[in-house]
Amino acid sequence: MIPLQLLDVPAKIISQMGEIMNISYPKQGYTSHVTFVESTKGRYVIKHSKGKQFREWLTKETFVLKCLENVDLPVPQVYDFVLENETDQAWLLMEYIEGQTLRSFLLRETCEVKRHKAIYHFGQMMRKIHLAKCPEELKGDHTWIDSMLMQAEYNLHRYKVDGTKELLDDLERNRPDHVDQTLIHGDLTVDNVLVKDGKINAIIDWSGGAFGDPRYDAALAIRPKPNAFQAREEVDIFFKGYGKQAVNRKEFLYFEEGLYEFF
Ligand SMILES: Nc1ncnc2c1ncn2[C@@H]1O[C@H](COP(=O)(O)OP(=O)(O)O)[C@@H](O)[C@H]1O
Ligand SMILES: [Mg+2]
Repeated sequence: MIPLQLLDVPAKIISQMGEIMNISYPKQGYTSHVTFVESTKGRYVIKHSKGKQFREWLTKETFVLKCLENVDLPVPQVYDFVLENETDQAWLLMEYIEGQTLRSFLLRETCEVKRHKAIYHFGQMMRKIHLAKCPEELKGDHTWIDSMLMQAEYNLHRYKVDGTKELLDDLERNRPDHVDQTLIHGDLTVDNVLVKDGKINAIIDWSGGAFGDPRYDAALAIRPKPNAFQAREEVDIFFKGYGKQAVNRKEFLYFEEGLYEFF
């Protein structure tokens, strides 16, 4: 029998999972509702989004994950995707990957050696993303920064964002110096990285995946969070794992306190 909480999920998604034995929920993000399903066939994740903006992001995430299928990165496999235009909803059925978010790991872990190991590995993982061969389908017609500024303006006029018109004008006028574009995650915060046995086991939430500016990932990765990246030492260890200091103070401010305010 389908649990009451899954009655709204399209039958096409439900039919793929076998007999459902248990459902549970992780701490939710901001753009979707995620359900973990345990069934006779294994464990699954259903990610559900409502409304134009979040539905589009989930559509984009599914596209990016499919593009990454043959890239050697620990990302969930897509099993199915259903878009319902009439009700403005979308569902992504994907592989469950074990682990807790790096944010919750760092919040609780008191052993410095274990903390440093996970942070170093996070840096190594970002390097792996930036060195991966970027799938051609992710290379757009505009440079990434142009697309992002256009999208920022669109979001400013249509959605509730933290950024202002003045900030956007400032970002337009003071673009960071050119660097080579790479595959980027596009929202590489400690919330979107899963840790298992002290190492990064998965990178999730790929709606921002693109051929873009690697400094954006670096800036979001080291955003200070409760008990995470508060100490300069942790930032240094992250960049040691990455192989170099990927973003300077000015660039960090441009991306983290600037561009990110529109997303
Ligand atoms: N494939 C997955 N495997 C295991 N846990 C997942 C998976 N996808 C999402 N989660 C869990 O759900 C939470 C929210 O998912 P996420 O994709 O980051 O949603 P949002 O876009 O709303 O931030 C994650 O922090 C994680 O705990
Ligand atoms: Mg997330």
